[in-house]
Amino acid sequence: MKTPHIPVLLNETIDLFKNIKDGYFVDCTLGFGGHSEEMLKRYPHIKLIGIDQDSDAMEFAKKRLSKYANRVEFINKRASEALKELKGLNISGILADIGVSSFQLDNAKRGFTFDSDTLDMRMNKNQEFSAKDVVNFYDRESLERVIKDYSEDRRYKKIVDFIIKNRPITSNRELSEVLMKAGLKDKKNLAPIFQAIRIEVNNELNELNSILDESEKLAGDGTILGIITFHSLEDRIVKNRFKKWARKCICPPEAIRCECGGNNQKGIILTKKPITASKEEIKQNPRSRSAKLRGFMFKEKNE
Ligand SMILES: C[S@@+](CC[C@H](N)C(=O)[O-])C[C@H]1O[C@@H](n2cnc3c(N)ncnc32)[C@H](O)[C@@H]1O
Repeated sequence: MKTPHIPVLLNETIDLFKNIKDGYFVDCTLGFGGHSEEMLKRYPHIKLIGIDQDSDAMEFAKKRLSKYANRVEFINKRASEALKELKGLNISGILADIGVSSFQLDNAKRGFTFDSDTLDMRMNKNQEFSAKDVVNFYDRESLERVIKDYSEDRRYKKIVDFIIKNRPITSNRELSEVLMKAGLKDKKNLAPIFQAIRIEVNNELNELNSILDESEKLAGDGTILGIITFHSLEDRIVKNRFKKWARKCICPPEAIRCECGGNNQKGIILTKKPITASKEEIKQNPRSRSAKLRGFMFKEKNE
């Protein structure tokens, strides 16, 4: 089946789950089902729950995975909500390949491309809040926060000034022109600003934090969690959370001696350093360049 999205770090991700036990594997970002299909093929003892907030992607994945129909269930929601429904299930693995699919990025109608006629950027088409609201209705302070925190571009004040002066902005094409007037010369400069607005529209960092929170609640002994991120803000969140989970002692740094019992480790980090794409993969799929995979294995809860 020809797919509009090439899964990144495919072999590395499947290998991360090599010790997966019986039970459910939850793909929080099913997309076009690339990772899920390989998981079902390679690990015949698992059942799969595929989550995606994008109904177009889910329709495609349903067809692709139809030969595994008796082992697969689908939930068309945000992962943060869907994971809450899985309480009580025996979950042996969880994967989140967060970010935007190539289909979403390349399809001008979805309003992610620089030259799109719309200003949208929603992964979930049922959500009302879109890039139009961020660009046209945020006050200066809120817009500066978005651009500063999520693009890390030091010219954020000037950029916001130009956006506000040129309102209303109705398409990505117009937004690109305004950003160019503000001094951003090329796509390389535009990309982080578009990314910042997209992060805000889809509440991406809060979603990632919720996926980590819910995974911790769902995990049992041996549950493996794999997270693939595409920019440093996300990777930092995952790295720090895994470090926190791996810590035996959770006493504050200023404590003179350990008073927590030193028995708070929730599991082990499976990837000392993040796994990144090989030169070969980057050549075939340039979008894999920024992908980072990190893995964690939970141990039995001490309760
Ligand atoms: C990078 S793609 C995943 C591709 C997939 N691994 C594959 O092999 O086809 C990301 C997908 O996750 C979805 N997504 C991102 N964040 C999500 C979230 N918080 N909840 C549900 N779906 C999400 C997007 O709609 C998109 O379809």
